[in-house]
Amino acid sequence: MRVLSVASEIFPLIKTGGLADVVGALPGALAPLGVEVRSLLPGYPALLAALKNVQLVAKYTNYFGGPARILSATASGLDLFVLEAKHLFGRPGNPYTGADGKDWPDNALRFAALARAGANLGQGAAPDFVPDIVQAHDWQAGLVPAYLRYDNKRRPATVATVHNLAFQGQFDKALLSALGLPPMAFAIDGVEYYGTIGYLKAALQLSDRITTVSPTYALEIRQSEAGMGLDGLLRARGAAVSGILNGVDTDVWNPASDEYLAARYDARRIAVRAKNKAALQARMDLSVDPDLPLFGVVSRLSWQKGLDLLHEALPALLDVGQLALLGAGEKLLEQKYTAAARANTGRVGCVLGYDEELAHLIQAGADVLLVPSRFEPCGLTQLCALRYGAVPLVARVGGLNDTIIDASEMALAAEVATGIQFAPVNAVMLDAAIRRTALLYRDKPTWKRLQLNGMRTDVSWAHPAQRYAALYRELLASLAA
Ligand code: ADP
Ligand code: GLC
Repeated sequence: MRVLSVASEIFPLIKTGGLADVVGALPGALAPLGVEVRSLLPGYPALLAALKNVQLVAKYTNYFGGPARILSATASGLDLFVLEAKHLFGRPGNPYTGADGKDWPDNALRFAALARAGANLGQGAAPDFVPDIVQAHDWQAGLVPAYLRYDNKRRPATVATVHNLAFQGQFDKALLSALGLPPMAFAIDGVEYYGTIGYLKAALQLSDRITTVSPTYALEIRQSEAGMGLDGLLRARGAAVSGILNGVDTDVWNPASDEYLAARYDARRIAVRAKNKAALQARMDLSVDPDLPLFGVVSRLSWQKGLDLLHEALPALLDVGQLALLGAGEKLLEQKYTAAARANTGRVGCVLGYDEELAHLIQAGADVLLVPSRFEPCGLTQLCALRYGAVPLVARVGGLNDTIIDASEMALAAEVATGIQFAPVNAVMLDAAIRRTALLYRDKPTWKRLQLNGMRTDVSWAHPAQRYAALYRELLASLAA
């Protein structure tokens, strides 16, 4: 079985968040199951520079306003197709925004161009890889099912995968013909979305199956709050929607072999974590104290992630322990945490920016990994935390609900608890959860049980990959019937 995966990011070549991790890891997990995946990405400079074994697949003289080529290539062990189009992707830095932090003004064309290339490959543009299924990740690939539908040619099956419903890709309806879509596409059962063209809407409307990255999020998005305008459509297509949890790449995230740590360890040598804690405290200008519970954060700084709530609950955290925060994003949050670090020397450490190495050290050195998200389609940092023996303290939403077992009396008695959950998601409940965590931390045998339960949890892609493979098979069988 052949699957073309279309996405705007892929680890380790270009990454702004978990989407890249998933798109980068899933092909390797599916290969042993007889599913051959190739990924189509935009030709960003960083990506083009990494390509090996480059071959020309297709060439266009006027492709969304300039010349373009589809290349096939490999890079970092990944089998890729790349849409090379300098006028659209020949820009340094972030894939979505300019240096001013604002969306590139031509994002509608940039990601329509990506989707058009996905549709062309779906229709057989590369004779040696004609996919049975095209999987479109998030809004950036959202028009793939639309092009395939309105072309009216023989087409592969389509799966739309939602990593985050908050980003929808909405653009002016005047662009319709520039996108190469027929007038009939601008309809409620097509790409029309509240008077605009909706890329994610198009994907949800026109794909054969919809997946999202956790079972709980798959349910939450049927309701107005998490559905963000798309809940009606998601209810209507309910039978086509399913939730499959993410995994993590257990080679990249392995405390026994992780080069970024001060000391490597596994579940049998968990005491070694103390060395990483001391190294982390030193790195983050925190007082080096083995006994204070150290709370870690590795996150985009955005409303979704609830870090304004953590800032409100900071007095509780400072009553009981220390904070090590690594994040980048909204300026206001960056300022608040910089100020908090300045005002609480030795107790709050804050590094702004994207730092792969420090992200690993936080997982290995923090006692607790905090994820107070308002919504979380899946979340990957809590999975890494489980594997590294940092106890996750999470909001009870989305994938956080599905991956962490709260240390309730019953779960502790049954010895299955792996972390702490709180709900509803607000600063009062977070405050209480931080205090509850500190009490658990003082109970050494219980704490160790939580850590070991986490470290023994299977967070790999093995099980999720089986679920994707089963979904692909079921889909192809249903279309053949
Ligand atoms: P999201 O995709 O919503 O940002 P996820 O938890 O799914 O959230 O994935 C985030 C990924 O990005 C994880 O691999 C995490 O380690 C990484 N990450 C987030 N912020 C940073 C940062 N500032 N530095 C390094 N890695 C980060
Ligand atoms: C999105 C979500 C996150 C998820 C990731 C990968 O960025 O915010 O919850 O883990 O995609 O699916």
